[in-house]
Amino acid sequence: MVSHPILDKISQRMQQLNNDGLLRKRKLSHDNSNPSVIDFSHNDYLGLASANEMVDALTQGATIYGVGSKASPLVSGYSQAHLQLEQSLCELTGHEAGLLFCSGFSANQALIKTLFDANNVVIADKLIHASIIDGVRDSGAVFKRFKHNDLDHAKQLLERNPDSVVITESVFSMDGDKAPLKSLQLLCQQYNSLLVVDDAHGFGVTPTQANGKFCDIQVVTFGKALGCQGAAILGPKAVIDFMVAQSRQYIYSTALSPASAYLALAAVKLTQEQPQRLAALNANIAEFRQACGKNNIELTDSTTAIQPVLIGDSNKTVLIASKLFDLGFAVGAIRPPTVPAGQARLRITINAQHSQHDIAELVCVIATLI
Ligand SMILES: Cc1ncc(COP(=O)(O)O)c(C=O)c1O
Repeated sequence: MVSHPILDKISQRMQQLNNDGLLRKRKLSHDNSNPSVIDFSHNDYLGLASANEMVDALTQGATIYGVGSKASPLVSGYSQAHLQLEQSLCELTGHEAGLLFCSGFSANQALIKTLFDANNVVIADKLIHASIIDGVRDSGAVFKRFKHNDLDHAKQLLERNPDSVVITESVFSMDGDKAPLKSLQLLCQQYNSLLVVDDAHGFGVTPTQANGKFCDIQVVTFGKALGCQGAAILGPKAVIDFMVAQSRQYIYSTALSPASAYLALAAVKLTQEQPQRLAALNANIAEFRQACGKNNIELTDSTTAIQPVLIGDSNKTVLIASKLFDLGFAVGAIRPPTVPAGQARLRITINAQHSQHDIAELVCVIATLI
């Protein structure tokens, strides 16, 4: 390889990451390499990613529209499938208008970067997702953070910064706990501020969507409970029109494929038509928590599909996750900077398709390893 200062920098940084137990590597998913592994690591909470109805919908969508959108939405990449999905999401959530993106990461980043600038103050929960942090940095807005789910702290920041924007997640991706959305909404009203909610891990699995609009702008993603791919920003028509006119990520990028939009619409319908999936998920969450209690495994208060087991040390977390994998269970080994220093954890995600036996076995094995 050629010698170049950037390559020296990379090599030193990789060495450092490795020494600290923070080096990230890909591995083939168990479906390909080891079908006997039971997966407690993904976000397909309702088991939609492999549902027959979804496979049929993708085939049907591709038959009608082809497999690619072929252009930016502002050129010729915006189809009836996109429009129908946006309308359906608005009907479900009570928002006025919607805009589709290829991923939640780009939706969040585009939203924040396009709407705000150096004259705005963005107040966000300490544990907010990386895509929001990047969006705020790109926007140049003044960035304030409140302690995780701490309403008093959020209020203090709002008192000093009225007419600002508050951003939180509905269900926190690495902790599984929920934001106090009702209280945050009231605070925002009191201080004339906008509430933006990243609903990536809530949409499809929490009753929030049935309760109507709980924020000014909601970002929903399709890659978690909906089991497919893509995302939508939902909010006032004025905001969506502005995003269409100004968002660089939206304007200068090939649109989400219409087949994906068609598929996401099918997934939204399935969350409504097959409530048994959510019931099975909730029963499995209760089963997991009960089994952990019996085995003296300490859990957080999370009542959602995301059930972290805190380990602390990064190297130890990776080692336990690797032993679990060898014993037939895939779980996430989550380390800084995804979580704060010293809070590495096993991120266990429960889904509707786990059996009681899967859960009991996992818990027994974890109990022997921690
Ligand atoms: C809270 C949160 N927001 C946004 C995203 C990004 O969504 P996507 O995976 O669709 O890019 C994620 C994904 O990890 C997430 O956990």
